[in-house]
Amino acid sequence: MQEPVRLNKETLVVHDSHDERHYGAVSFPVYQNSLFTFKTHEELETALSLEVSSMIYTRGNNPTVALLEDKLAKLEGGEKARCFTSGMAAITAAILSVVRSGDHIICVDGAYGPTKKFLEQYLNRFHIQTSFVDGRDVLQIEAAVQANTRLIYLESPTSFTFELQDIRKCAALASRIGATTIIDNTWATPMFQNPLELGIDLVVHSMTKYISGHSDLIGGVVIGSQRHMDELFAGEFQLLGGILHPQSAAIFMRGLRTLPLRMNKHEQNGLRVAQHLRERPNIIRVNQPGLEDHPQHELFKSQMRGSSSVFSFETDIPMSAMRRWANALLLFRKGISWGGYESLVYMREWSDGTVIVRLYVGLEEPEDLMQDMEQAFESIGYRCAVKS
Ligand SMILES: Cc1ncc(COP(=O)(O)O)c(C=O)c1O
Repeated sequence: MQEPVRLNKETLVVHDSHDERHYGAVSFPVYQNSLFTFKTHEELETALSLEVSSMIYTRGNNPTVALLEDKLAKLEGGEKARCFTSGMAAITAAILSVVRSGDHIICVDGAYGPTKKFLEQYLNRFHIQTSFVDGRDVLQIEAAVQANTRLIYLESPTSFTFELQDIRKCAALASRIGATTIIDNTWATPMFQNPLELGIDLVVHSMTKYISGHSDLIGGVVIGSQRHMDELFAGEFQLLGGILHPQSAAIFMRGLRTLPLRMNKHEQNGLRVAQHLRERPNIIRVNQPGLEDHPQHELFKSQMRGSSSVFSFETDIPMSAMRRWANALLLFRKGISWGGYESLVYMREWSDGTVIVRLYVGLEEPEDLMQDMEQAFESIGYRCAVKS
C-alpha cells in the first residue's frame, strides 16, 4: 500500500505501515538479539560491505531501534538519527564526532552541567579548549570566535534559567566561520522546535525526558544529515558502543506515540502555573519564555511553536523557608529530572541569597498544583490572596 509522502507529526508517531514480516502486528516486535545470521557466507559478505544500513550486529543496526530512529529523524526534519543509551552518551558522541585535538569550542553558559564538565574538563585532556558565553546575543558568541573554532554548542532554552539563543543567527555565524553547530533540543522536543530547519547541523536530545514521558527510561538521540550520521556510525556510535537496547527502544516507542498529546497538555499546564506564580508576591521573576512578558518572547515566537512545562522562578523568600515550602508540597515530588507525568521541584540558592526554584509541571490538573503550592506557602507564613 502506498504511504502518504509527508505526514503531520501527530500521524507520524502513531502510524506504522502494515508489515507482512510480522503478521501485521500492530506494535513493532522487539528484536531481542545480538546478531543476525545469513543463509550463505556470500550474503554475510554483502551485508558487511553495506554495514551502515545492514542488520548484522545489534551494536550497529537493530530493526526495533531503527524504527524509533526513523520516526525521530522524521519528527526533527533530519535525514538520519542514532539512538544512544543516555542523553550524555548522545551528546558526547555528537561532540566527539566534530572536534579534533587543538580545536576550540564555544558553548553557552547555561548548558546542562555534565555537558559543560565534559567540554571544560574532559576534552581539555585532548587539547580542546572551550569558551563559555551567555549566548542571548549572537554578538557574544561572535566575540569568542577564534581561528580554530570548530564547534558552536547551543542549548535553547537552557534548562535552569531558560534563556534562548537566536538559532538562525548562530547557524549563519557558524557557516560564515566554517564551524559545526550542535543544539540540545531536549526542552522543546521535536514538537515545538526543529533546529535543523533553522540551519543547525546536529540536534541532540535526552530522550529520558519528554520523549520517554514516563520517568522509566534513560536514552538519547543524535539527528543530522545522512553524511554526518554515517561517519558518526562508523566512529563514535560503533566504537564507543553506547547504543540503545531494543527493549528500551520499544518502550521509548510507546512513549513517543503520545508525545504530541502530552506536549500540548504540558504546555497548557505549565503556562497556567507560570502565570499564577507571576502574579504572586515575593516572586522576583518567572523564567518561562512562553510567557508573553518574557524578555525573549518575540524570539521564542520566531523559532518555536510552543513551550514545554519546565521553568523556574526566583524568589526573595530565604532558602531555609523555601526548603520548608518544598517539603510541605504534597503533589510536587523532590527530584532533578523532568518529562514524566509527575510534577517535580528542585531549588538552588544564588550567591546573593536569591532562591531559584525549578518546577516541572506534569500532567496533573493545574488547579490542584496551584492549590498545593499555595497551601505550602501558607504553611511557611507567606500566604497571599492572588487571583488564580
Ligand atoms: C537539557 C539536558 N540535556 C541532557 C541531559 C542528559 O541526559 P541523560 O540524563 O539522559 O544522560 C539532561 C539530563 O537531565 C538534560 O536536562
